[in-house]
Amino acid sequence: MKQYKTKITSTFLSLMFVMSMLNAADKIGVPAKGGHPEYLFLEKVSAKEAQSTADMISKSIAKGRLVIFAQMGRLTNPELGDKGYTGDVFADQWEQALEAEFISASPAQEQIIKKLIWAGKQAMDNNQDRLNVKGVKWKHFLPAKWAREAGLMFNSRTGIVTKQPAINYRHPSNAPDAKEIEVLTKFVKAGTNAKPQGEFAMMGKQKVYRYFDPINLMPPCLGCHGKPKGELDKLGFEKDGLETGDVIGLISVSIAVEK
Ligand code: HEC
Repeated sequence: MKQYKTKITSTFLSLMFVMSMLNAADKIGVPAKGGHPEYLFLEKVSAKEAQSTADMISKSIAKGRLVIFAQMGRLTNPELGDKGYTGDVFADQWEQALEAEFISASPAQEQIIKKLIWAGKQAMDNNQDRLNVKGVKWKHFLPAKWAREAGLMFNSRTGIVTKQPAINYRHPSNAPDAKEIEVLTKFVKAGTNAKPQGEFAMMGKQKVYRYFDPINLMPPCLGCHGKPKGELDKLGFEKDGLETGDVIGLISVSIAVEK
């Protein structure tokens, strides 16, 4: 009787084991359902200021990308070691480029932009060792990478979520969610006529304003994102097959709104 029981128990246990393995095999690598990219919202804006704040954040990131883009010749020069392009140097240029944007900023908006500038400067400082490597042209530093890393630190300090979802995204953290896919699809059709759009939504229990600002390609982007589609770019990613003016992605901003 005892032996019989042990046998049943061990058969039952092996069955459970096999089932748990199958279950685990089913689920590996699938994003967890529910949940949100943020759940402690530090900075909140009034509903009235939501659109203009999200627009300021998005425009600032786009300007930051351009400021870095203008430096790419120097930053990818393999002859140079120390490039001298520190967080401070970058932040000065970035703030100058932003001056005109923020004449009408409210005190709450100024505080948020200050934290964004802090995050952008930090992201540049964090990349100094990488940027100052001599003898290598591409050192895995690009405007989009700066924006991704600055966005993470901006999120740490503010709870505001920024992303750059794209059609064929290169970095996994830019994978578009359902809403971003919907907006991207519309922007791609509109091309150069794509206009920023936003809406109130919920992120868990928090009301947020979601804002989507199209990113159109310029000629210097085509070396990696242009034609022929599928050919490997100089970093080893497949080119996107796009043309100047095409929408490649968007800057996505989600910001908490006060009740
Ligand atoms: C040298 C190749 C190269 C060039 C030139 C280039 N990109 Fe990219 N792009 C990349 C790589 C690599 C990433 C991923 C960066 C990361 O987050 O680590 C990227 C990411 C992006 C993303 C975010 C979505 C994603 O794929 O993760 C956007 C949007 C984007 N690039 C737009 C542009 C635009 C606009 C230009 C021109 C102003 C441009 N790129 C020029 C290689 C390039």
